[in-house]
Amino acid sequence: MRITMIGSGYVGLVSGACFADFGHDVVCIDKDQRKIDALHEGRMPIFEPGLDELVARNVKAGRLTFGTDLAQGVAGADAVFIGVGTPSRRGDGHADLSYVHAAAEEIGRAITGFTVVVDKSTVPVGTGDEVERIIREANPDADFAVVSNPEFLREGAAIDDFKRPDRIVIGSDDERALAVMRQVYRPLYINKSPIVEMSRRSAELTKYAGNAFLATKITFINEIADLCEKVGADVQDVSRGIGLDGRIGNKFLHAGPGYGGSCFPKDTLALLKTSQDYDAPQRIVEAVVAVNDNRKRAMGRKIIAAMGGDVRGKTIAVLGLTFKPNTDDMRDSPAIAVIQALQDAGAKVQAHDPEGVEQAKLVLENVTYCDGPYQAMEGADAVAILTEWDAYRALDFERVKGLLSQPVLVDLRNVYSPAEAAAAGFSYTGIGR
Ligand code: UDX
Repeated sequence: MRITMIGSGYVGLVSGACFADFGHDVVCIDKDQRKIDALHEGRMPIFEPGLDELVARNVKAGRLTFGTDLAQGVAGADAVFIGVGTPSRRGDGHADLSYVHAAAEEIGRAITGFTVVVDKSTVPVGTGDEVERIIREANPDADFAVVSNPEFLREGAAIDDFKRPDRIVIGSDDERALAVMRQVYRPLYINKSPIVEMSRRSAELTKYAGNAFLATKITFINEIADLCEKVGADVQDVSRGIGLDGRIGNKFLHAGPGYGGSCFPKDTLALLKTSQDYDAPQRIVEAVVAVNDNRKRAMGRKIIAAMGGDVRGKTIAVLGLTFKPNTDDMRDSPAIAVIQALQDAGAKVQAHDPEGVEQAKLVLENVTYCDGPYQAMEGADAVAILTEWDAYRALDFERVKGLLSQPVLVDLRNVYSPAEAAAAGFSYTGIGR
């Protein structure tokens, strides 16, 4: 198969490289010349474990190339994937589809022969119809079909998620298109990965419903954690206790500072917009969004309370800035709201993150960035763990106590047990325990 990927960001690059590894001939297109130049030099535009080796292997084998010329990439392709960004539109929270629409128009003009155009970007229900209309308008003679094939890749585990998926969702009623998609995912059909074929609209909604459900699960356990604190229970135990029920499942029941990242915040908002447009209110998701938004700043107040209620002139060491470990992504990271709340209350922040500092500098002001966790704690009055990077899982408690003016540890990811922290002489605050 000849596959063209439009957009070489997170989704496009990971998917393109994995398709090449399946043995397909893949070209990844991006408008950003610098990104393509970097890829030609073997430098990855994002941090994702294993991606550089995967790309290098397939480039060497001649199966993976990069370019900026969309028309050249599309001509003669069997499948053209749209993997461009769909950020929240400023002001109203609708998904911004301008990149998807622009790509559709260019694809329309460049199509030769029967081509399957696949939406991989997360797009609201009905976007497939719109893409079809735009291509038809740009090229009334084009022979094509539009398929929805949402991605479910977690940052930090994207390659594994792609190759060993919980499921693949393919939305199309067109037999010719389905035949091409079965070839595209041939290795996964062969090893009997769960593949669900459905209508295009069902596929589009599956993505939003899935992410909204996961966001709900996290938010549910976060509120139970708040209750645990009031009644003297431990959310880690409650989470395990309910998660062992197969109907509930133990994943995404880890209480923390609230979900962030490139998907959950944006997709829950976009789902609410769609539900308003179609007059089918999603009240549970509305509550999830509101609860999660409030939670982030509340975590700042939690740190302040752990320090006695007044942080004016105090210095707080923050360990972890990204919305989760193994990524450099700062989008909607809880750390942003937490740090701003601390600064608003008059505190100074010294922070460390293994990968996220460059991105953090773009969204946070007046933070002192340090080279390591211990440097961040030097001269600080308390330490707060905001992201559960492995580097923070085995801190040398004696050394930490020597660096801090007070042995105050606020652990917003429940990395440590309250008992071990107390035994080491810390005043410990976790989540829901
Ligand atoms: C998510 C989905 O998992 C993926 O299927 C989708 O395609 C894109 O969005 P991602 O945003 O990379 O992936 O991260 P994920 O691991 O899902 O975590 C999202 C957020 O939820 C993080 O801020 C994480 O810290 C938080 N989280 C997750 C919790 O607070 N508790 C949990 O139990 C799980």
